[in-house]
Amino acid sequence: MKTLRVELGERSYDIRIERGLTDRVGEFVAPKGGKAFVITDSNVAPHYLGRAVGSLESAGLKVRSVTLPAGEKTKSFNTLPMLYSLALEFGLTRSDAVVTLGGGVIGDLGGFMAATYMRGVQFVQIPTSLLAQVDSSVGGKVGVDLPEGKNLVGAFHQPSCVLIDPDTLSTLPDGFIADGMGEVIKYGCIKDEKLFELLEGINGDKSQLFKHIDDIIYTCVDIKRRVVEQDERESGERKLLNFGHTYGHALEKLSGFEMSHGAAVAMGMEYITRISESKGQTAAGCAERIGGVCRAFSLNERPSADIDGVIAAVKNDKKSGKGGLDVVLLERIGKAYVYRTTADYFRGQL
Ligand SMILES: NC(=O)c1ccc[n+]([C@@H]2O[C@H](COP(=O)([O-])OP(=O)(O)OC[C@H]3O[C@@H](n4cnc5c(N)ncnc54)[C@H](O)[C@@H]3O)[C@@H](O)[C@H]2O)c1
Ligand SMILES: [Zn+2]
Repeated sequence: MKTLRVELGERSYDIRIERGLTDRVGEFVAPKGGKAFVITDSNVAPHYLGRAVGSLESAGLKVRSVTLPAGEKTKSFNTLPMLYSLALEFGLTRSDAVVTLGGGVIGDLGGFMAATYMRGVQFVQIPTSLLAQVDSSVGGKVGVDLPEGKNLVGAFHQPSCVLIDPDTLSTLPDGFIADGMGEVIKYGCIKDEKLFELLEGINGDKSQLFKHIDDIIYTCVDIKRRVVEQDERESGERKLLNFGHTYGHALEKLSGFEMSHGAAVAMGMEYITRISESKGQTAAGCAERIGGVCRAFSLNERPSADIDGVIAAVKNDKKSGKGGLDVVLLERIGKAYVYRTTADYFRGQL
């Protein structure tokens, strides 16, 4: 088992990575003799819920589980009252735990429920999608969507531990593997040239990817851990994780969220790097390499975006502050920096 510790004072926690961990989750959920309120979704439950619940019960926990419909629609503010009611009916107290078993939707929703139920109970993340394993389960950002937009209500609530079983990726549909690869490639771009080179070498080959996946997950989580330790609430270093995301979020929004997040981020990373290269702010050749590795991992959706629409969407983004827009640029592959500009940066001079 590989273990990483996120050092955040009294909110510190461990991230454990091991194949087959789904059958051992009970060992890591405290308190023994207490209750575990497990939240999962309809795609994950048939594969993993029985195993996780069996392990929790063997460890002496009383378990209640709820299986929600799979998909982003479930991450709605409106789902919360039902979860609070079920937890109350189960008798969940502040000394018990919420356990999220699923992708980013379940982690964000269940984490927000845990942050707010009785002013906060501990929660354990068991991420089952690649995106959740390398990104959303670590860092403590939890939240739900409103009809007006995604992630508009949320909190910072760190999990009490994160349990990653890479074997769960064997049932994840290819499109969602590609989605998660968008974030994996991002980590390589901003912090780790070796990881980027490994991905170039794998060149989209699924069996090679799965051969290296434990190490890849470890490397990505370790990067996110270090970033979060330095900047838990996103005032500086954590902004680097937004590489490719400003433009990507705009594309997703303009497509009515038809476009996948991974493909949008892939396009965002390549696009902004083309602009920064043309301005001499990034070493030459980076955009080409990013485009190549993204395409190799099937991140090749290319909608024809209307740049005025993109800029309007960027201006509306909740991250656009009054004093300008912080974009993340690469100095080179493996090294990123924040650059203060305006949304018009995306017009570029290509
Ligand atoms: N909190 C954060 O820091 C953070 C960071 C990035 C993204 N997010 C959020 O994460 C969400 C996206 O996460 P996601 O891509 O995991 O979405 P998701 O939770 O919808 O999972 C993707 C799909 O895969 C299915 N699935 C998950 N694991 C599976 C498995 N092992 N086998 C078979 N099917 C499986 C799900 O049912 C779903 O259909 C978004 O809501 C986004 O806002 C949060
Ligand atoms: Zn992302």
